Formats: sequence, structure tokens, C-alpha cells
Amino acid sequence: MKHFLSLEEQRIEDFEAILDLADKLKAERTNTTFRPLANQTWAMIFSKSSTRTRVSFEVGVRELGGQVIFLTANDMQLGRGEPIKDTARVLGRMVHGAIIRTYAHQDVLDFAAYSMIPTVNALTDYAHPCQIVADLMTIREKLGCIKGKVVTFVGDGACNVATSWVFASIKLGFELRIASPKAFFPAKGLIEKTGSNVTVTQDLEAAVEGSDVLYTDVWVSMGKEEESKSRLEMFKGYQINTPLMAKANPDALLMHCLPAYRGKEVSEEALEEHAATIFDQAENRLHAQKAIMSWLVE
Ligand code: CP
Ligand code: NVA
Repeated sequence: MKHFLSLEEQRIEDFEAILDLADKLKAERTNTTFRPLANQTWAMIFSKSSTRTRVSFEVGVRELGGQVIFLTANDMQLGRGEPIKDTARVLGRMVHGAIIRTYAHQDVLDFAAYSMIPTVNALTDYAHPCQIVADLMTIREKLGCIKGKVVTFVGDGACNVATSWVFASIKLGFELRIASPKAFFPAKGLIEKTGSNVTVTQDLEAAVEGSDVLYTDVWVSMGKEEESKSRLEMFKGYQINTPLMAKANPDALLMHCLPAYRGKEVSEEALEEHAATIFDQAENRLHAQKAIMSWLVE
């Protein structure tokens, strides 16, 4: 049984197969007869807000020939304390696949273990692997390939998106730099797993020099709202703006997983200047996730 839970578990050849299929599905979106989810129903269980992930998965399941049920965790017995392993065993007898967005990563692992159906991590506090597949697809489209490129993540280096970037760089070997305040460096255990291609620093300007991609995410991830005040204070100075972009390589990409908070992690001017990339990146969630689901059921 295949799952898509965290990039640390993916094989390099799977990354390549998924990215190639994503490109093909994008190119053939309007005239494809490819329906790997025909006669299947997939459940989406979301405990956190979502615009891109929800819509791209709902549309993606339908375009692959399947049906989808969207469930808010709070409306389920899960919200009243039914264990995840019981929910998983019930759904596993009724639906063909599950897409889960929640807090604890262990809940997604448990769901996968007990449900016996393909399970996709649509974001946990720990990782956001679907996002990074769409990001890699976008970098390939814009820069030709990821090999030999320098990606610099600016902001909360301990968040789910940054963690998934670290796993992608471990697997694919491109240079990843993380520029963040010390309190938000990736976990020590994670950095110990990386090679010399991953560096972590508080020195934003040094990190940006020679970068092909500057990438950022919100300073206050979902579930961290109580820390908003202190986070906004600590991240000051880690904004991607036009003067910072000028210090990266000529034609460097600015990427953002969205939603964006203008005036915080990114300036209005820089975001609008790079909107073509950022919204292609958002669109690519659809194509990338269609490829992930197709790979899961092949
Ligand atoms: N980037 C992303 O996952 O967006 P949503 O939270 O809107 O799904
Ligand atoms: N790190 C962010 C990603 C949003 C898509 C969060 O978890 O809220």
C-alpha cells in the first residue's frame, strides 16, 4: 500500500515520475481520458483552514474520474474524541483514498497504518509534502531543472514547509539555504540528517547572494496564533522585498506557498512583481496532486 506522507520516505525515482506525470497532466488537462480514480470515492478530512489544498484536491479527484467527500474534522465524531485509528478503520471500509490536513503528524501516520487505503498528507505541523512537489514542478518550468540551483528559504525555518524543503534537498541534492532567526532554525535532529548542501544561518544577506530562488511562508503558521506577537517581533528583518531580491542572482524567482501576508514575510511590491511565478506555483498544486494520486493507485 503506497502513501504520500512525507518527502523523507519518497524514492528519487518516484519524485521524477510524479513530476513528469504532473507536467503531462498539465499539458493535457483539457483533452485527457486518463481516469485512474474512476469508480473511486476519496475522503478529505481537514482540521485546519485551506483554500489551495482543498480546491486543488477536490478538482483533482474529479478530473481523475473519482468522487470526493469533504469532511471537517469537527463535524465528525473525531471532533468529539473518537480515536483516529477507529475513524481510519471505518473510512478504510468505505472509501478508496484519504487526504488529511491536521495538526499532529502522528495522526496521519496512524490513519495510514489503520485505514489500509492510500493516504495523503495535505499538511501537518511537521510537513507539507504536496506543496513542495508543486514548487519543484514550478522551478523546473521556470529554470529548467532543480539540479545545481540554490534555493533559499527565508523565515520560519522550523515550519512544515521548510522541513519539507529540507527533505527535498536531502533527496535531490540541490543546495538549500535557510535564513531565519536562531529560535526558528530547523530541529537539530533534522539538520544532522543533511549533508553539506543544506546550510542554516541568521545572516539573510549572505544567504541570498547567489540564490536562484527566494522562498517564503507565513511567519505565523496555523496553530501558532498564540505566538503571533512574539513571532512578528522576531521575524522582523526577514522580509523578502525588492531590495533583497536585487541581491539574489539576476532573474531569481520569488516563491511563496501562500497565503501571503503583505508587509510581513513579503512586501506588496515584490509579491506583485513576481505574481506570475507565485500563482503558477499555486496552480501547479492541482497538477502535482493529480500526479501524486495517480502514482498512489498505479
Ligand atoms: N499553500 C497552501 O497549502 O494553501 P492552503 O492553506 O490555502 O491550502
Ligand atoms: N506553514 C504554513 C503553511 C500554510 C500553507 C502553515 O502551516 O500555516
